[in-house]
Amino acid sequence: MTIEILEIQHGSPEYGLEVTLRNKILRQPLGLHFSSDELAKECFDIHLGAFLGPAMVGCLLLRRVNAHTAKMRQVAIDVSAQGRGIGRRLVATAEERARAMGYTVIELNARATAIAFYSKLGYEVCGEPFTELTLAHQKMRKIL
Ligand SMILES: CC(C)(COP(=O)(O)OP(=O)(O)OC[C@H]1O[C@@H](n2cnc3c(N)ncnc32)[C@H](O)[C@@H]1OP(=O)(O)O)[C@@H](O)C(=O)NCCC(=O)NCCS
Repeated sequence: MTIEILEIQHGSPEYGLEVTLRNKILRQPLGLHFSSDELAKECFDIHLGAFLGPAMVGCLLLRRVNAHTAKMRQVAIDVSAQGRGIGRRLVATAEERARAMGYTVIELNARATAIAFYSKLGYEVCGEPFTELTLAHQKMRKIL
């Protein structure tokens, strides 16, 4: 079965799958979960999901920072689907979407364990390391 990348509407059943996946990959391992306030703020974001048939195996969000810059957030690939190029495809689709919306820069806060992944896709570290949700991170950005 082939992977299909689709835009997801906030509040839809697919958004429910997205939150479940993000909880599983990004929050539960840290003993955390999303608050309803956090999720409500995502209604203006662009949500992309990678689907294998009806199953969501990857996702990410794009959030407006200003007229030029979008922030890529919540990049998560299911454990069973990692290392198969799905993250690369999701990021490429997000970049196309961002360009089409007139953005010229994507920025993100990369977990230290994911810096090599984003570097391969052309993102550059900027600034000093910092801690977020107990994990070491670095800001990265790419000019589109
Ligand atoms: C990091 C993550 C998004 C990468 O997605 P993925 O689908 O597994 O990555 P891909 O298969 O598209 O990999 C693309 C390239 O990056 C490399 N890569 C992927 N993850 C990597 C990592 N953690 N460290 C180093 N290289 C990595 C791959 O080897 C591949 O390189 P290649 O093209 O030379 O073969 C995914 O593994 C994940 O969700 N991890 C857990 C959650 C997480 O850390 N999210 C990011 C938070 S900032």
